[in-house]
Amino acid sequence: MVAPLRRATALDLDAIMVIENASFHADAWSRVAMGRELANPLTFYVVAPLIADDEVPAVPGSLAGYAGLFSLPDGPQADVQTIAVAESARRQGLGRTLIAALIAEARARGVAELFLDVRADNLGAQALYESLGFIAIDTRPGYYHSDNMTAIVMVLALETPAPHRGEPVGGAR
Ligand SMILES: CC(C)(COP(=O)(O)OP(=O)(O)OC[C@H]1O[C@@H](n2cnc3c(N)ncnc32)[C@H](O)[C@@H]1OP(=O)(O)O)[C@@H](O)C(=O)NCCC(=O)NCCS
Repeated sequence: MVAPLRRATALDLDAIMVIENASFHADAWSRVAMGRELANPLTFYVVAPLIADDEVPAVPGSLAGYAGLFSLPDGPQADVQTIAVAESARRQGLGRTLIAALIAEARARGVAELFLDVRADNLGAQALYESLGFIAIDTRPGYYHSDNMTAIVMVLALETPAPHRGEPVGGAR
């Protein structure tokens, strides 16, 4: 059974790497790189813990999925760094829930645009992103070095918070 999402900690690194390696194969990040991501104060990583139920015993600390976001302080843009769901937990809405958590964090940071890269042959992930309003805006040929695969750049425009009543909107300086 999948528990509600929570912020990732360094203690999640082993369980994240199990899904990372199984999901991304030759494109997987190293354990060191992922550890840096989790430790970076500018990132926001969430995990979906797996908990045992009557049907499935879960290994303590195991995860059904994770996702991460990065943005510079007060920056107008954020990036979806990564997202993966364990194969056994796919097509049950968890990927959508994870991205929704990143979108909520981007909004809370006041970000206007949320970017991501996705392999051109990853039609499932593209369908997920499109269902959430992301649109393809560019391609990066050969971006994935393992097999020279093109990346599609997608962006989601986020509503910026409405100005307080009575305050000037914009203006010259
Ligand atoms: C992409 C990924 C995160 C999706 O996770 P998920 O939990 O299966 O996604 P969801 O169940 O929330 O899917 C939501 C919607 O996205 C679309 N979608 C997701 N996976 C799909 C697939 N394989 N084929 C077609 N559409 C898919 C569907 O519209 C789906 O809605 P539906 O199930 O009601 O039809 C997961 O397949 C994964 O981890 N893949 C390996 C890692 C990866 O590719 N990450 C993305 C890198 S850019």
